[in-house]
Amino acid sequence: MSDRNTEFFPKQLQEFITSSFLYLDQDPYENNRIFFENAGGALRLKSVVEAQSRLSALPDCPERTHDIALGIRKVIEQGTKDIRLFLNAKAGSVATSLTASKLMFEMVTTVAAASQHGNIVTTAIEHPSSYDACQFAAEQYNHELRVAKADPTSGNIPISNILELVDDQTVLVSVILTSNITGAMHDIQKYAAEIKQKNSQTIIMVDGVQGAPHGVIDVDDWKIDALNIAPYKMFGNRGVGFAYLSDRIASLPHHRLLATDKDNWNVGSPTPADFASFTKVIDYICEIGHYFNPTDDRRKLIVEGINRIHLQEQAILNRLVNGTSEMNGTKDISNVTVHFEEVNGVNQDLILALTFDNISCADVVQKYGENNILVYARESSSHYSKRILEAVNLNAIVRVSPIHCHTPEDVDKFLEVTRLIAEGNV
Ligand SMILES: Cc1ncc(COP(=O)(O)O)c(C=O)c1O
Repeated sequence: MSDRNTEFFPKQLQEFITSSFLYLDQDPYENNRIFFENAGGALRLKSVVEAQSRLSALPDCPERTHDIALGIRKVIEQGTKDIRLFLNAKAGSVATSLTASKLMFEMVTTVAAASQHGNIVTTAIEHPSSYDACQFAAEQYNHELRVAKADPTSGNIPISNILELVDDQTVLVSVILTSNITGAMHDIQKYAAEIKQKNSQTIIMVDGVQGAPHGVIDVDDWKIDALNIAPYKMFGNRGVGFAYLSDRIASLPHHRLLATDKDNWNVGSPTPADFASFTKVIDYICEIGHYFNPTDDRRKLIVEGINRIHLQEQAILNRLVNGTSEMNGTKDISNVTVHFEEVNGVNQDLILALTFDNISCADVVQKYGENNILVYARESSSHYSKRILEAVNLNAIVRVSPIHCHTPEDVDKFLEVTRLIAEGNV
């Protein structure tokens, strides 16, 4: 696409980024490895792992009043502030749980339980965490489940396919920000506005897990009711998910320790290490933002940082697809098909969905692995992929998911290996 950015990070910034990550070029067994599987769990920041272990070492309960307890409370407060800033959640509640999926189930079920018989609209490319939550809640609370169809060429859900299902009985619309399989990105602000035009009362919930590390999130501006994220997909740790809930839905009857506020969604004691490490993720994003726009405003730094990450990722995607004057990109390598990207243009996340004419996706993944490149095959044999692949008329893809910390050299190595695999020479 001509309007896609092609410029990579400046050298000094790239050096900072390279030095910030663990296992960027080598796996824990000290084997060389290019990790292009970040949609399965992103490369981790050193600072995140350090903060996690520092806070995990403390036995103190933050509810006490001694100095260490007060310090831990500050960490939790800062982490909560950072979640709000990252999402631009000016009002509403922030919820934490072990996984993003668990939060989605809680949120969907709470809304479904609070409404009379109506319908729930979801989409064919939702991750099972939101799709299954909608199906479960529809069955449990007597709502009709309606599923918006995908456009197989782009791997996205056209807004018209959602709107035709929304009526005055629609209780809830669940739509994914960015597909973790096709890489298609949805303009949630536009989608939410059009859905609300059809039914101003319907609740809009967004799965932000894949989109969060790659583009700016603004729940205030988008006027949605809920959105979840998973830090382990955004350079943070596994074991926690966060969600935003609007004032409107935060106080609906839900699982809650009854002595706490009506809009409190945190059941039981918080894990301080999760907050400390999320603050480190935000510090890192801000550091990138600061390189381009030295301001003291943390939200502005987040926006700048994420926008710069997005631009770098568009440059990586461009090189992956179009190559260089010396090297063919994936779109020009014989026997390789690139799905979705051309139709999506700049609305394609840094996820490349490939198939090879002469070799199965599982074998391709194996061959990349033998050449020190980690990618993943999404196959219809997996519950996580089946419905989504069927929605776009495929039964398997090789998913290639680098992130912004990767370099043109990484891409070139990947292209070289791709050519050899496609020629049957490795
Ligand atoms: C788009 C998307 N949504 C939700 C999830 C669920 O995340 P978790 O398994 O951490 O609950 C994932 C995980 O792969 C995902 O990719």
